[in-house]
Amino acid sequence: MNPDIRTIVILTGAGISAESGLATFRGPDGLWEGHRVEDVCTPQALRRDPALVHRFYDERRARLAQVRPNAAHEALAALDRAWPGELLIVTQNVDDLHERAGATRLIHMHGELRSALCAACGAAVAWEAGLPPGSICPGCGQPALRPDIVFFGEMPYDMDRIEDALARADLFVSVGTSGAVYPAAGFVQTARHYGARTIELNLDPSAGSIWFDESRMGPASLLVPALVHELLA
Ligand code: OAD
Repeated sequence: MNPDIRTIVILTGAGISAESGLATFRGPDGLWEGHRVEDVCTPQALRRDPALVHRFYDERRARLAQVRPNAAHEALAALDRAWPGELLIVTQNVDDLHERAGATRLIHMHGELRSALCAACGAAVAWEAGLPPGSICPGCGQPALRPDIVFFGEMPYDMDRIEDALARADLFVSVGTSGAVYPAAGFVQTARHYGARTIELNLDPSAGSIWFDESRMGPASLLVPALVHELLA
């Protein structure tokens, strides 16, 4: 790997957690755990049927206790510990497998299952249990807690920090994401624009495959440790 690489941005998607046993979003049937994305991942769905939306994320949150980080999460955490330059892992995933593997330079741009968001005061609260609609915010006392998930039409978290890192990146790596959801799908173009080398790791070429300098096809649990080995060699 090029010794001039100092700043690395890594974007991860559902594919990195697939081998831990978590379903990807766009299964062959186009459904997410049996639901249309519009029924569980939009502000309209939350207004129309809060019980369904809360229950859906309660089930996803409970599932976290049954899964573990895999070799790909472990390898990125090892890179995070060892990389002397700037590094940012940006995940679209709402699971907590990156941090359970030990990654710290991490942004959850689409929110987190183990967090609740107060629709009244905007506070984010660590949350482990079920979250029925009307749960009370410990900060402002309003019955306004909702899943801390960025729904379609809402602004992803920390976009300023992400854009800054992309503009400085020497290497941009995308792992296990279909490239179907913006703004994350456009990160590769931003990074290229500012001069980064771009590598895609995926089982199959993603929608944005043409934007990558290099595409490596295979399971994340093999491809990510191999890339990390190259970077730390
Ligand atoms: P998708 O389900 O759209 O795509 C998963 C990708 O992972 C596909 O490109 C698969 O080929 C790849 N994949 C599957 N198994 C893999 C493996 N073992 N190793 C490597 N790659 C593998 O998931 P995302 O791209 O993450 O948004 O979806 C993006 C966003 O759409 C999600 O964050 C979510 C969803 O709606 C929100 O929740 C706001």
